[in-house]
Amino acid sequence: MTDTESPPPSGHLSAKGFCLTSAFWMTVATFMGLLGATELIAPDLTGNTAWIVFGRIRPIHVNLVLFGFVTPGLLGAAFYFFPRLLRTTIYSEKLGVVTVLVWNATLVATVVTLAAGYTQAREYAEMIWPVDMMVVLVFSLLIVNFLMTVRQRKEPVLYVSVWYVCAGLVLTATTYALGNVIWKPDSGALIGIPDAILLWFYGHNVFGLLLTPLSAAVAYYVIPRACRAPLYSHTLSLLGFWALLVIYTHVGTHHLLQVPVPTWLKVVAIVDSVAMVIPVMAFLINIWYTARGKLGEIHADIGAKFVFTGTIMYFFVSIQGSMMALPQVQRVTHFNNWVVAHAHIGVLGFAGMIALGGIYYVLPKITGKPLYSRLLADFQYWMVLIGIAGFAVVLTIAGLIQGHAWINGETVYRVLPQIHHYYVTRAALGLMIFTSALLGLYNVIRTLFFNPGDRS
Ligand code: HEM
Ligand code: HEM
Repeated sequence: MTDTESPPPSGHLSAKGFCLTSAFWMTVATFMGLLGATELIAPDLTGNTAWIVFGRIRPIHVNLVLFGFVTPGLLGAAFYFFPRLLRTTIYSEKLGVVTVLVWNATLVATVVTLAAGYTQAREYAEMIWPVDMMVVLVFSLLIVNFLMTVRQRKEPVLYVSVWYVCAGLVLTATTYALGNVIWKPDSGALIGIPDAILLWFYGHNVFGLLLTPLSAAVAYYVIPRACRAPLYSHTLSLLGFWALLVIYTHVGTHHLLQVPVPTWLKVVAIVDSVAMVIPVMAFLINIWYTARGKLGEIHADIGAKFVFTGTIMYFFVSIQGSMMALPQVQRVTHFNNWVVAHAHIGVLGFAGMIALGGIYYVLPKITGKPLYSRLLADFQYWMVLIGIAGFAVVLTIAGLIQGHAWINGETVYRVLPQIHHYYVTRAALGLMIFTSALLGLYNVIRTLFFNPGDRS
């Protein structure tokens, strides 16, 4: 890694903006998750108030965790390390700040339209056309800023984090536009099975070509820096990068194994889902070997601690994912809480943990002061970790109960009493994660704006 130089401070304002965006929307997003979880325990609680019925809260929660919390957190870190790795300044700080503002306007528009019942009703592509266009716009602004920074670089070698950020942004802008069928503003959809195939091509790309590359980029930056060790292998990092791009683009149809899509497409999706072990292990071996013998350094740095834990979660979620793509396994796990467990291990345990790690790693550097409270950050770490481990356990059990009951011919509603107490436990764990988000927001605001500079 060639990051020994100290270029003039650059990207700091945009990085601050994205870190704050992430910390703020994490509180809103987790509150929406908590509200949804509470409604699943007590369906009459909100008295059918239209704008907070479960069907509206769920897409708000999901879109906010993806685009409000995780992605901005990862981008906050990227705005810090990108110019440093390229030994230049960010192409345009003003453009970065404008992007933060438009990004937040897009999130507000997302919440307002979905709560008001304006939806295209396709999972992960619920936003209506004007909001879709705002998303495409913010990704285009990011692409201009990051690619122009690459263009004006003084460092000839492109470190793997740079590859990952550029790929994540370019591929997301493209697949978002395709998956949301933006050339059909009214429906945002094709017709029938081709629509399902296109939707899930995009749907899994949100995790595979947005969250995963940005998370990998942050991990590849933070872990060697925190360990003060060179990356174990640059060759392995590029092997993992290209394998991810080639393999992950073909897995979307593993969401449609129970649907009459062409068999050859299912076979491609299943084979590539299993082949995902190649990029996953290339990345993990590289990171873990870099950190070998340096766990003390990782423990000492709260940012690195979050990031490293995220890589362990990545191992579990990916092995689980490869198994879930096998038709025999999916016959039990599909359409129930097993998948919700997997989703939380992936989006919160892997990408969310790395986003939080990125924020905590760069905050002291962009403010020039230590984090306001390491203790609070540690507290947040344990609350999130216990919360996500608890989610994984109770939702997996609930999913197995549902899956096995259904396969034995039981109807959906008769299984609900069996999983009620797991839902109650999930809500309790969710309350803890929501509280941790509040602590995180407080810590970030204090660090950015009211930091005496000498606390630990
Ligand atoms: C920032 C942390 C979180 C992330 C990244 C996250 C992510 C997600 C994702 C990706 C889904 C879609 C799952 C699927 O369709 O398979 C989801 C659904 C859900 N999440 Fe979260 N979530 C987070 C925190 C929470 C919290 C704190 C709660 C509160 C208990 C919660 C409750 C729910 C509920 C109730 C659903 C709907 C599940 C269903 O449809 O049955 N989430 N979440
Ligand atoms: C090797 C890597 C992975 C494989 C092979 C894989 C496989 C799968 C499969 C087969 C499903 C569909 C399950 C079903 O509907 O029955 C699924 C769902 C899901 N996966 Fe993964 N997964 C992987 C990694 C990840 C990661 C890293 C994340 C998050 C960053 C993630 C997030 C999700 C989410 C949110 C869903 C729920 C989608 C929905 O709402 O239905 N996955 N995954």
